[in-house]
Amino acid sequence: MEQTISGSTRFAGTAKLPADKSIAHRAALFASIADGPSTLHNFPASADPQSTLSCLQQLGVPIETSSTNTVLIKGGGRDGFCQPDAPLDCGNSGTTMRLLSGMLAGQPFDSELIGDSSLSTRPMGRIADPLRIMGAHISLTDGHAPIKIQCCGGLKGIDYRLPVPSAQVKSCVLLAGLWASGRTTVLEDIPSRDHTERMLGLPVSRSMQGCSINSDASHLIPSGTFTLPGDFSAAAFILVATLIAGTGPVHLPNVGLNPSRTGLLAVLKQMGANIQITEHKTSELEPIGDLTVERTPLHGVVIRGRQIPNIIDEIPVIAVAGAFAKGTTILRDATELRYKECDRIHATVTNLRKLGAEIEEFKDGFAITGMVPLRGTTVSSYDDHRIAMAMGVAGLGAYGTTTIQNAHATSVSFPEFWDTIAKLQR
Ligand code: S3P
Repeated sequence: MEQTISGSTRFAGTAKLPADKSIAHRAALFASIADGPSTLHNFPASADPQSTLSCLQQLGVPIETSSTNTVLIKGGGRDGFCQPDAPLDCGNSGTTMRLLSGMLAGQPFDSELIGDSSLSTRPMGRIADPLRIMGAHISLTDGHAPIKIQCCGGLKGIDYRLPVPSAQVKSCVLLAGLWASGRTTVLEDIPSRDHTERMLGLPVSRSMQGCSINSDASHLIPSGTFTLPGDFSAAAFILVATLIAGTGPVHLPNVGLNPSRTGLLAVLKQMGANIQITEHKTSELEPIGDLTVERTPLHGVVIRGRQIPNIIDEIPVIAVAGAFAKGTTILRDATELRYKECDRIHATVTNLRKLGAEIEEFKDGFAITGMVPLRGTTVSSYDDHRIAMAMGVAGLGAYGTTTIQNAHATSVSFPEFWDTIAKLQR
């Protein structure tokens, strides 16, 4: 599917966001091993969380979905999974594949995880390495999926320092620790998103050296009722679109505001953005609130180091903000971006250059000189949801018409993205 976007004059209203993808995966995975039923309200219809649900169904977990996006999951405890009779298809979802591998490594049966062509090129050695130290029997194909897991007769807890800040690797090891003898500790020098430890209530200790999180086989897995918040990473596209194109204000109610995810707010504020945040008083584990944004002139900033993990999924749209900011925006230390659903540094730089931006590519980032007018042309989504949406936002700020090829990639996390943009333009 191709999507055309024309430069915007009006961009205002209230947008409903899809539920948070990272939280949805975890809510479903954790509910499946709890001792009792869980009800998940506002569960997203997007492809990635649905891949997690279908893998869990293949593992014998009873799951019912109502027409109102409510999912009922009957957790069968730690011993509740059954051996799947076919490979578990994780689709495009790295979170499904990496977290589920951790949960399957210590099971008394063999399993295999597969993914689409993009997921099958992403690095899986980063989870196989620690799982093997725990005693798991795992084989990969040249460091990639398919991941074959053989029954190993028991895992042992380890202390593991993350070589790269990654919430997926951290979660994989901590989840394997739920089936291991002894304690598993994951140490992270630079904090990554903390949904797993929050939602499972795992013990965390923070020091000057970083953060350490523990899991073990006696940890109680909570069940219950949970309403999933709106996805901050989806909000990011609407925030930047409002700042650079059209009028505003745009209201975004019920957005997840977990501080390990909202680094973009600090970046945009530093660029001069006017964003109002109203946090809700809530007893839920994940903080939520409402955002209101107005069009504001932006200026360039330098982003690097410890800031990167907290904005990792927002970097393509930060580049777009940089194209409309006065001065130069420089982003470094983000080599990890080359291992996402596509090489997001290459995709972002190539597309923005096609639109006329002055952008230099580095191994670990880019430098973009803003205020060089963008002119609509045809760009590719690289079959990556976040590249498709970032280019949609660039198209709103560009002169003329921008065509995004393979624009259906948005279905992975924000299937209603193009409709949402169109409504805000009306
Ligand atoms: C995610 C963690 C991040 C992020 C991904 C979702 C998660 O990946 O890019 O979209 O839900 O844990 P890494 O942990 O590999 O950085």
